[in-house]
Amino acid sequence: MRRAVRERFLPPEATQVVWSSNRGDRIFSPIFHQSAFFLLVAVLLFFMKTPIRVAVTGAAGQIGYSLLFRIASGSMFGPDQPVALNLIEIEPAMKALEGVVMELDDCAFPLLTDIRATASLDEGFSSVNWALLVGSVPRKAGMERKDLLGINGKIFTGQGQAIARNAASDIRTLVVGNPCNTNCLIAMNSAPEIPKERWFAMTRLDENRGKTQIARKAGVHVTDVTNLAIWGNHSSTQYPDFYNAQIGGKPVTEVISDHDWLQGEFIETVQKRGAAIIAARGASSAASAANAIVDTVRSLTVPTPSGDWFSVAVCSDGSYDLNRGLMISYPIRTDGSSWEIVQGVPVNDFSRAKISATVQELQEEHDAVADLLPKG
Ligand code: NAD
Ligand code: LMR
Repeated sequence: MRRAVRERFLPPEATQVVWSSNRGDRIFSPIFHQSAFFLLVAVLLFFMKTPIRVAVTGAAGQIGYSLLFRIASGSMFGPDQPVALNLIEIEPAMKALEGVVMELDDCAFPLLTDIRATASLDEGFSSVNWALLVGSVPRKAGMERKDLLGINGKIFTGQGQAIARNAASDIRTLVVGNPCNTNCLIAMNSAPEIPKERWFAMTRLDENRGKTQIARKAGVHVTDVTNLAIWGNHSSTQYPDFYNAQIGGKPVTEVISDHDWLQGEFIETVQKRGAAIIAARGASSAASAANAIVDTVRSLTVPTPSGDWFSVAVCSDGSYDLNRGLMISYPIRTDGSSWEIVQGVPVNDFSRAKISATVQELQEEHDAVADLLPKG
């Protein structure tokens, strides 16, 4: 890997400059020249960041086609952080993946140090720092996401085990493939060696959708909307908690006087946005999902702005009296390395009923996949 980094980041002219600038200098010995050269290379390598290796499953799919280019361009880890990609697909999609790799090559991304494309889970998760589990079947019109459990659930046992066997010691995993909360539960329980706080399921797309709806209604820019937590499941029971959301630092319920809209149409629009996109596009959201993956990883790796929070499903520790061990979306904040569930967020009777309903659904999904989870 070092060699690959060196080749990409130290162009041939750099070495030529060192030698030519020394060539006419007769005061110093050749040994000095050589030492100076190696010292310079050592200093360059020292300051060069080690690439973050990211595995993406379903890399030849719709989301993959948007996501990979965002990661490679620096949107996920920043403009000075090299990245390496491990792209995982099933055998029938390997030819398509070859084309995606050709396109990545043709972008000549300065930050992209290495690409490995494979259908082997062991190879694909080898030494990865992040695993983005996208690969799985999307739903069609008329289906709920949980209808995919029978098809997709079992994919995540093998992936969880392969991550445990092969990934880097700091591995963090984000599950996107639906139903993502319960698929993540399956993967996490298949890899008991990995600490539970390293597993996440994506509800950020719902948060982003909700913020846009609120901003439109209030006539403000979306960046004015903060503190919008999604509670529970990435499904049509999820609860976008407008009661604790803010617009320019004021409660949303003060700025938007139409509380019927907030309690009704707003929640329903966010809950059913995925289905509305499938109905309009004939395929499920892809670019906005890839964007939400970038947002989730960034939010987990840079400090959360003071007083704000973001949404991601994590393994519940029982906070807010919700079922311990399920993958529940909560308001989360981080200092950039470790995260916490934000405590003390007010939950009124309306919110409590909505949160209970979505967690109840997660419990039912858990019970439906009991054969894929450890006994007892
Ligand atoms: P897609 O069908 O375009 O691509 C899925 C890819 O996964 C395909 O290339 C397929 O070959 C691959 N795949 C299937 N099984 C695999 C396996 N076992 N290992 C590796 N790769 C495998 O679908 P898409 O639009 O990219 O969506 C992928 C998943 O993401 C779906 O389950 C979808 O419902 C979900 N999704 C979740 C969110 C969210 O917010 N959590 C948002 C959008 C989509
Ligand atoms: C979404 O929210 O867009 C995805 O989960 C895809 C879907 O099935 O709705």
